[in-house]
Amino acid sequence: MKRTKIFRLLESDSPVETVLIKGWVRTKRDSKGFSFIEVNDGSSLANLQVIADEHLDNYDEILKLSTGSAVTVTGKLAASQGKGQKWEIQAESVEIISIAPESYPLQKKRHSDEFLRSIAHLRPRTNKYGAAFRIRSELSYAIHTFFKERAFTYIHTPIVTASDCEGAGEMFRVTTLNPDDLPRVDGMADYSQDFFGKQANLTVSGQLEAELFALALGDVYTFGPTFRAENSNTRRHAAEFWMVEPEMAFCDLDGDMDLGEEMIKYLVTHAMDACSADLELFARFVDKNLMKTLENIASSDFVRLPYREAMEILSTVKDTFDYDVGFGKDLQSEHEHYLTEQHFKKPVIIYNYPTTIKPFYMRVNPDEETVAAMDILVPSIGEIIGGSQREERLDVLEARMNEMGLATDNYWWYMDSRRFGGVPHSGFGLGFERLIMLITGISNIRDVIPFPRTPNNIEF
Ligand code: 4AD
Ligand code: MG
Repeated sequence: MKRTKIFRLLESDSPVETVLIKGWVRTKRDSKGFSFIEVNDGSSLANLQVIADEHLDNYDEILKLSTGSAVTVTGKLAASQGKGQKWEIQAESVEIISIAPESYPLQKKRHSDEFLRSIAHLRPRTNKYGAAFRIRSELSYAIHTFFKERAFTYIHTPIVTASDCEGAGEMFRVTTLNPDDLPRVDGMADYSQDFFGKQANLTVSGQLEAELFALALGDVYTFGPTFRAENSNTRRHAAEFWMVEPEMAFCDLDGDMDLGEEMIKYLVTHAMDACSADLELFARFVDKNLMKTLENIASSDFVRLPYREAMEILSTVKDTFDYDVGFGKDLQSEHEHYLTEQHFKKPVIIYNYPTTIKPFYMRVNPDEETVAAMDILVPSIGEIIGGSQREERLDVLEARMNEMGLATDNYWWYMDSRRFGGVPHSGFGLGFERLIMLITGISNIRDVIPFPRTPNNIEF
């Protein structure tokens, strides 16, 4: 007989004569003549209650079942007399697969997020993390569905590259050279002897390659891991995170903002529809305002605010901030929180940033002081999307690259895309972990990715 996943049995609309489940014991309660075993197989937040009665051959063994032990159960799926559940299994057999000793760290009580991070190999077995990772999976599918419905082509851009898309130098090196015995020329490491014959690194963004494909296939997107060696120990930065990057030919900054807003609303709405049981846990135990926040995002028109005006608003309350405001300053997270949580109380798209604080690929506006950039900020997270219209004019692009000290030789292929059939095009990157934080109310990025990579943290 094949096993049935517990979530399917919980959704059953009639009793079933014989079913087989496999899972882990969450709790067990013994009463006269019976043992009530709560079994969870990871397919849903809810457990399925198994009733084992004392006539079972191995009842002595069943009494020894502890939290975390694994079992195979066969029996009848019957309407439950107990409250809080529709179905239970009246066991015909309970086969013990393994017994977890008392030292099992996840006994039934609430554990702190910090403690659970120290046992990241076990935390997906808790209700909260199980729910978070089911939601993460559901939203990954939803992203593909969103783009498929809009006829975007999915592109697998490389993980190992020789370029630095953001030009910020925050890259992890990829090398097979021996650091203790580096080949050198003129005292410098000789990368011509390295695996690729030149310096290579983990990608910070798939954008540059996505642009090349957008200029061939029209509308494309990438969705994959990206890496940043920025040494910032904050609750919203990870060294390895997943980014969703659409890139659209024949699209300007307005179209880019439209897609970003539409996508966030689509994903939030999808989560509320498809993950309601798991979301309920977060609304009860993690953030009491969660459903209100999500409904607000799904139903409101995002504010669209030029950077200059954002700075004017911020300067009226500048004394409340640690960081300076004014044209040319980057928005800090305290500013993002103020705009989205206090001033507008909804998502805000800031656009037309100063040229000096944005990367080389963004399109220079007619004022020459600003570029056609846009960031989408949402309450409680801050920046969730960063994007722009791209500089399609070869001469302007070249001038900016030179200004910023980029070796144009290394980007000849990127510049070719402007030389041959270049068109206006735009795109953005959505931080997938930040999306999961927004949707679950989880406040630390370390708790929405299975095995977080942050400074001094790579145990698992
Ligand atoms: O604003 P960013 O740096 O934009 C880019 O990389 C562009 N090349 C994307 C594009 O236009 N195709 O990053 C995009 C988003 C941010 O808004 C943020 O949500 C997320 O990626 N992000 C991070 N998430 C977690 N940890 C980090 N260290 C992150 N850095 C950026
Ligand atoms: Mg950004």
